[in-house]
Amino acid sequence: MNAIKKKRKKSLNSSRNSADSIGLDAIPVPAHVAIIMDGNGRWAKKRLLNRIKGHEKGSQAVRTVVQSCRELGIRYLTLYAFSTENWKRPKSEVEALMSLLTRFLQSEKSELMEKDIRLRVIGQIDRLPANVQDSLNDTIAATRNGSSMDLILALSYGARAEIVQMVQKLGAMIQRGQLTPEAITADLVTDHLYTRDIPDPDLLIRTSGEMRISNFLLWQIAYAEIFVTPTLWPDFSKQELLQILSDYQHRERRFGAV
Ligand code: FPP
Repeated sequence: MNAIKKKRKKSLNSSRNSADSIGLDAIPVPAHVAIIMDGNGRWAKKRLLNRIKGHEKGSQAVRTVVQSCRELGIRYLTLYAFSTENWKRPKSEVEALMSLLTRFLQSEKSELMEKDIRLRVIGQIDRLPANVQDSLNDTIAATRNGSSMDLILALSYGARAEIVQMVQKLGAMIQRGQLTPEAITADLVTDHLYTRDIPDPDLLIRTSGEMRISNFLLWQIAYAEIFVTPTLWPDFSKQELLQILSDYQHRERRFGAV
């Protein structure tokens, strides 16, 4: 068994936890939950508020969900916070999202450290403003030994861009004579993605009712269970997370087998 597979197995085992104490079946919660946080704009529009207010409220929901997942023993939580496509939004909205992110990092750093949560990022991080990169690097360094949960923020993230850079890396290895095309395996592809040492998501949640993947973790969600809720992200609560986890526990995962 290679190192990644061993790590995946370990992470599944480590998810057997106190979930039963909060009403879930005493079977493992998913090791890795990934969330497409959608609906901030509509939440604000319904209240005749500026879209930025929706993102602010969405930021509070992020806090709740991070703490809830950690309490539940979920080992990896990936949040789609800013996509490569989101750069096309109005400058004022992009700036507001960047500022919310730095405020989140400043206000949550000590909480993440206290709760033993390790912050990680995936995406084209070099495209983010320098002050955001500084805040990220600071919090990543401060939480690097966190072992209760990995909080992975997908920032300036796009799955197609991730796959393109993986192909470029493997292509360069072939060009240098370090790799033959026949030696390319699914594991080798996995090892050249941003998520190389993170197990694939078991559960993908999307809020706001849209039935789309939106360029999120295209390779990694091959066998993820998908749950779409009509709830707009700012209204997403711990209670709804528990309901989704309960639904997940009753699904039969066959990974393509009978
Ligand atoms: C989608 O809603 C949400 C985003 C593009 C950004 C997500 C950001 C946050 C939840 C807050 C900041 C994040 C962190 C990690 C502190 P939308 O604007 O597309 O909503 P709409 O589809 O209703 O317009």
